[in-house]
Formats: sequence, structure tokens, C-alpha cells
Amino acid sequence: MPLEKKATLLVKNIGQLVTMAGDVPRLGDQMKQLALVENGGVAVAGEELLAVGRSDEVEGRAPLAEGCRVIDAGGRVVTPGFIDPHTHPVFSMTREKEFEMRIRGKTYMEIAAAGGGIRASVRDLRTTPADVLIKKTSHRLDRLLAHGITTIEAKSGYGLSTESELKQLEIIRELNNTHPIDLVPTFLGAHEVPDEYREDRKAYADLVINEMLPKVTAQGLAEFSDIFCEKGVFDVDESRRIQQAARDSGLGLKFHVDELGSTGGAELAASMGAVSADHLVYASDEGIRAMAASGTAAVLLPATTFSLAGTTYAPARKMIEAGVIVALSTDCNPGSSNTESLSLVISLAALQMKMTAAEAISAVTVNAACAINRQDRIGRLKVGCMADLVIWDMQDYRELPYHCGVNLAQLVIKRGKIVSGSLGNGNVRKTQGLKD
Ligand code: NIG
Ligand code: FE
Repeated sequence: MPLEKKATLLVKNIGQLVTMAGDVPRLGDQMKQLALVENGGVAVAGEELLAVGRSDEVEGRAPLAEGCRVIDAGGRVVTPGFIDPHTHPVFSMTREKEFEMRIRGKTYMEIAAAGGGIRASVRDLRTTPADVLIKKTSHRLDRLLAHGITTIEAKSGYGLSTESELKQLEIIRELNNTHPIDLVPTFLGAHEVPDEYREDRKAYADLVINEMLPKVTAQGLAEFSDIFCEKGVFDVDESRRIQQAARDSGLGLKFHVDELGSTGGAELAASMGAVSADHLVYASDEGIRAMAASGTAAVLLPATTFSLAGTTYAPARKMIEAGVIVALSTDCNPGSSNTESLSLVISLAALQMKMTAAEAISAVTVNAACAINRQDRIGRLKVGCMADLVIWDMQDYRELPYHCGVNLAQLVIKRGKIVSGSLGNGNVRKTQGLKD
């Protein structure tokens, strides 16, 4: 039967169409299921998916609107737009000097304790005008998009004063309105104790709770609250106090935990009903069990371990076996992981954490959507979901981790529009009447 709505975009001749239809989230063995259609096709009406299935069936059923764009994928792979559920994208100054210091033997925490690290980024962000930050962040978002990422979670955390935290969240809001990528905002006022509060940590926690949080929530600037819970940053008790206040003010919870050592962070995040706990390199077995029971997603960040020249990666296999929702992310930030490439993350997940290509794709689509509470709209190619999809320059999805260090995202479609890349001449055709 023909469909009622007309297609504004049609992608046909897809060699492997990875739909991710089925279980949400993907747990354990379900992570291997991609709901793959060979010789697939996708029809889009406006911003939403209209039909998904075999190419000939979709072509037969979907009437084309005047000006419909028809794309011949040429047997390539198509997946849902990737979701990056953990980024710190608003910054100006880069920190390649710290990268070199680490190569010469200093640790991330030694650099931070000496006043570098997050605090160095804070000093820079506070004095950088908003228009400069917007320009640089926008450029970074272009790169994320070019890598096939159509939604990101974006954190503040380089302001650490009321004014500068709000400045970053306002920039995230503005870019969400103006840039094709969707940004899900997270307040990270407790990323570090800033220079001026080093002698009075309690006063800084009070400022976060009594001044920042009320302003952030009154202006609707964040959906989540995050904290860096780690030895030398915020301990478990401080983290619980700050996150309790955030939860009371209506924000969902995220945590940076157990990154550099085991502090019981995974247990804390699970006990507070967090939507996600992230890093988790040193999560305990008990913490993993607690996360499986509470439905707290584990957002794993292997590019951070890689970039810090670490040798211990998060225990992904243990988490998958325990039934935790496992997601992957870049952690894109100027210090510990300066990358916009989820493809790199997927290669590292394969080589260092023994995740297969199918498991990694589940981790950056359906499960990443769960980690930011967007599982109803994105992460799957299902009729009615957002028309976010990527045409990859590959014939088999297993090339993704295997073809290392190369961006194979060829054409990126966000909300039904081509926003990045090209297929070369002749593969994108318009029916009569389209003006652009
Ligand atoms: O997720 N671990 C804490 N925060 C970031 C690093 C931020 C920075 O170094 O600027 C992370 O790795
Ligand atoms: Fe982070």
C-alpha cells in the first residue's frame, strides 16, 4: 500500500542498512543485533523517517514529493547518525603542551595539581569572549558532524564561576539552535575546585548548590548535572551532596567516576539512580553489578585512556556480561581526549576492550541514546524517529573498527537534510522543482 505522506528524501541501493530496530537498550548478547537489511532503502518526510526496509519496497511504497532528493548509496553501508553521549566541546585554548609533558613522563594528575589541566582551561575560558568561543566550538561541531555524529551531550565545566558556567551553557543553547548537530546540555560546575577556592572547598560546593544550580535550572539551561568524582577532585561524600541538590532541582544525573583509581564511584552513581556513569576504568565488580541493577548506562571513553597513554582500559566485556547498558563516547575535550572521532573510539573499543563492530555500533546508537535519555527519537532507523543517518564509504559495517584512523563517514543527514559530505557526481539527484 502506498504511504500517505510524500518523501522529501529517498536513499536507495544501500548494501547494508543497519536499522538497530528491536531491543532498547541493547544488553548482553543483544548488542550483536544490528537488525541489518541488505539492499536497503530509507524514505524521509521532512525531519522524520517515513519508510525503512528493502530498497525496492521503499521505492514502491513512498510517493515522492516535488523536489524530493534521491540518493543512490551505491551499495554502501548506512547507519543511524552516531550519538556522542559525553563531550566537553566549549573551549578556546588547546593543551598540546600538556600532551608533550605526559609523553615526557608527567601524569595527568601531576599536571593538574601544579595548576594545569582543567584549571588552566578555566583561566582561559573566563577571559575569552563568547563570540570567539562560539566560533571555535562551532568549528569543532562541524568536525563531529563530518565524523557521522548527529547528536552530542555537551558539558559546561570550564567556567567554575556562576557567570562563566552560565556563559558556556548559553553557548551550548545557542549552538543547539544554530548548528545542525543537536546538543544535550549538562551542567558540570563540579568539574574541579577553581583556583580561588583551593583553601575552602566547602565554600565552592556551597556556591554550586546555592547559586549556580538555582540559576541553571531557573533558566532551563541543563538537563543533566555531572561531577568529577575522583581522588584529588571531589570525593564520594562531596559528590553525593552536590548531586543530591542537583537531583532535587530536577536534573538527571551523570558522573565522571573511577577513571584513575577505584573510589566506589560506580556504586555511588547507581545508588543515586544516575542516567549514566562515565569512564569506569577501575569500576569494582560490585559497582558493575549495581549499575546493571539500577539501569545506569556505562559510558566508556577509550580515547581518553589512549590519549593519557594508559594501559588499563575499562572492563567492557565484564560490563556487557553483567547486563550493563554499555555506550561509547569521544570525551572530546582539550585535555584528556582531544578527538572528534567516534571511529577512532570504535577501533580502540575493538582492539583494547574486545568489543566487536556490532557491539560498538550498538554502543554509539541505541545505547548512547539511552545514556542521554533520547531513546525514543534517535539511535534507530525506525518509522517516526528522527531522520538522522550516515552513508559510510564501506561495503561491510565491520570495516568501521578495522579501517583505522580514517574517517569513512561520507554523507551525513540530520533531520532529513544533507549537512556534511558528498557522494561525488551523479549520485544525488533532485526531482523537479527543488530550489537549493
Ligand atoms: O572527562 N576527567 C575529567 N574531565 C575530563 C577532562 C577535562 C580536561 O582535562 O580538560 C575527562 O577526561
Ligand atoms: Fe569527560
